[in-house]
Amino acid sequence: MAEFVPINYQTVLASVIEQAKNTKSLGEVASYIPELAYVEPSKLGIHLITVNNDHFHEGDANEKFSIQSISKVLSLTLSFKALGNDLWQRVGIEPSGTAFNSLVQLEYEQGIPRNPFINAGAIVICDVLVSQFDNPKKEILNLCCKLSGNADIAINAAVAQSELDSSFRNRSLANLMKDFGNIDNDIDTVLDVYIYLCAIEMTCKEMAQTFMFLAQNGVNPLTKEAVVTVSEAKRLNAILQLCGFYDEAGEFSFKVGLPGKSGVGGGIIAIHPQKYSVAVWSPKLNDKGNSYLGMKMLESLTTISQSSIF
Ligand code: DON
Repeated sequence: MAEFVPINYQTVLASVIEQAKNTKSLGEVASYIPELAYVEPSKLGIHLITVNNDHFHEGDANEKFSIQSISKVLSLTLSFKALGNDLWQRVGIEPSGTAFNSLVQLEYEQGIPRNPFINAGAIVICDVLVSQFDNPKKEILNLCCKLSGNADIAINAAVAQSELDSSFRNRSLANLMKDFGNIDNDIDTVLDVYIYLCAIEMTCKEMAQTFMFLAQNGVNPLTKEAVVTVSEAKRLNAILQLCGFYDEAGEFSFKVGLPGKSGVGGGIIAIHPQKYSVAVWSPKLNDKGNSYLGMKMLESLTTISQSSIF
């Protein structure tokens, strides 16, 4: 019988970061939100936490960066808890096959976004939060602080202002959906929450900790509280798997084989249910808006450790 050899994640992460350092990043730092372009492009970090609470990290894992769309997993979590399955009347759960900020599908699908992670879907989710909570921004930030175990999680105000000043496309998405009757609240109020959500900053370590509940059947391991039910955790992971990388979701599944979510700040969170949560950061993005080296690092991780879900 083959002997069971536990995975030495520290050795694995050392190889992962070494390989990434030796790979030329072909991507570009996001600049359509001008403030994001000021980041140092060579930053590279990874932090992995196992369900036994063992931490492993390499590189710039303790530096804050703009988590952008990764926070959409948290807004989805809050709205799913608030509305339950009624949420799916407002937003779908199917991969879009289009860019994260695309307008085309919305017109012929009558203002119902394909999923909660494309910008249109995340804007609908913010509309739900505005309807459900007196102070949705506080609700989101409280969740970040509770899950990450850090009370100092905050937004980068310059990034938020920069996104507000350049939010023409997201404003178009919101207006189109309002016309179709899928936005209940004032558009400026909804976009204000959306932009706040995207401007949250975290380190790789904080991000890996924040999303541990998805590796632990919905339970926050720091407080032992159920953030969501087992069934809700299963569904959230399924949406990450199919929609977390927009029109590159198939590629990410194919190469990495984990539920994951990317952001245009260059971060990616990936979950191995019942095993670990891992966060990576490298600011240069490929042409689909996902971190070029971030995807490579996760591909190396699941290949070397033989730990994809497939
Ligand atoms: O709305 C936007 O375009 C950005 N605040 C977030 C987009 C994003 O992170 C897409 N992810 N890869």
